[in-house]
Amino acid sequence: MGVFVTFEGIEGSGKTTQIKKAGDYLKEKGVPFVVTGEPGGTPVGNELRKILLDRTALSLSGRTELLLFAADRAQHIKEVIAPALQRGEIVLCDRFSDATIAYQGYGRKQDIKSVREICDFASQSLVPDMTFLFDISADQGLDRVTDRARRAGHVPLEDRFEREHLKFHEIIRSGYLALAEEDSDRFKVIDASRDVAEVHREVCMHLEGLIKR
Ligand SMILES: Nc1ncnc2c1ncn2[C@@H]1O[C@H](COP(=O)(O)OP(=O)(O)OP(=O)(O)O)[C@@H](O)[C@H]1O
Ligand SMILES: [Mg+2]
Repeated sequence: MGVFVTFEGIEGSGKTTQIKKAGDYLKEKGVPFVVTGEPGGTPVGNELRKILLDRTALSLSGRTELLLFAADRAQHIKEVIAPALQRGEIVLCDRFSDATIAYQGYGRKQDIKSVREICDFASQSLVPDMTFLFDISADQGLDRVTDRARRAGHVPLEDRFEREHLKFHEIIRSGYLALAEEDSDRFKVIDASRDVAEVHREVCMHLEGLIKR
């Protein structure tokens, strides 16, 4: 069996930046790995992602949203994550069940117990071996997202999650921190307000431990 590592945190916390660098690190070490992420990662998942992140889809009901994320995950595990783990590889995944609990549970106030049960069903109880939580204030995270959008030539705040107000993101951040506290062996909470290289060094330190294991 391989090792399953997830990257979590609010928008702009640096998940995508860090997962790429973590991949470079594993490549350098000659360790077989896969970098993937949710929503998306499969053809069906990419269709679901379009629905979930489309700014015109603002009328999605909370339950619909939750179930679409769950459907995406079920497909992603079947097509990408489980086969890679069976090949004995390290799977680096940008968001997973903790994101659903943080956003749909804490953020959108769906019943947390039901959200967990749906995540458990969708993932066939697959739990990451290690989860990085990139912790940053909602303020700083959204500033980064705004800069990113400007640089890409977009109107700032590119999808409907990012358009929700600061308060929502602060709730997500606390939700994530609560999850980390509940499962402090699995979670590595990383101060993501620091520069990219410093954050990467901390990620590598944990990955090194995993490789040795
Ligand atoms: N440590 C850092 N310091 C400064 N800027 C950063 C840092 N990490 C990432 N960035 C920049 O902030 C922006 C957001 O980073 P990134 O896209 O990695 O975040 P994310 O967590 O993947 O966000 P999302 O949830 O929206 O996908 C990018 O423009 C990235 O270059
Ligand atoms: Mg990202």
